[in-house]
Amino acid sequence: MEYTAAVLTISDKGSQGLREDKSGPAMAAMLEAAGYQVVYTAILPDDYEAIRAALLLCCDEKRVCLAATTGGTGFSKRDITPEATASVIERFTPGIPEAMRAESLRHTPHGMLSRETAGIRGDTLILNLPGSVKAVTECLGAVLPALRHGIDILRGNAAECGEHHHHKEGHHHG
Ligand code: MTE
Repeated sequence: MEYTAAVLTISDKGSQGLREDKSGPAMAAMLEAAGYQVVYTAILPDDYEAIRAALLLCCDEKRVCLAATTGGTGFSKRDITPEATASVIERFTPGIPEAMRAESLRHTPHGMLSRETAGIRGDTLILNLPGSVKAVTECLGAVLPALRHGIDILRGNAAECGEHHHHKEGHHHG
């Protein structure tokens, strides 16, 4: 099957053209290197409704496998990405942000300051990442290897967990 992804950069300055978006392209490059087809990218302001609308588009219309955001996860008064994301999530996947923050803390004590969340809506896994290229590289690098198995299970394409290397009975009969 084809693994599709959307990359949403959340940045007031980026959305106004006042700052070059480096994190979005860095994230897209990592996803493509991991075999995802990035079918949608956008730069949005730190606006609750704008973020919600973009996520709903990615999940309900485009039905991408993975919708990843970068930025707006910190303590700035404008940072609202996790709340906007939580408002569209149907089932949270806390293990993924736990793994990201664990990795982040190996690099900086500020790793605990990212309020990133993640979860499932329909057939889509939504993932927040912090705003910097450094943080995107570290956090996405830590979780990317496990995401595909989750997406496979979500989409009903996976063998049972722990059975990756076994052929199911009937497999040989087509
Ligand atoms: N995580 C990793 N792996 N590496 C980093 O450099 N920076 C932290 C944190 N997470 C960082 C990180 C910092 S300084 C902040 S303020 C928060 O992410 C929130 O970032 P954001 O507001 O750009 O989303």
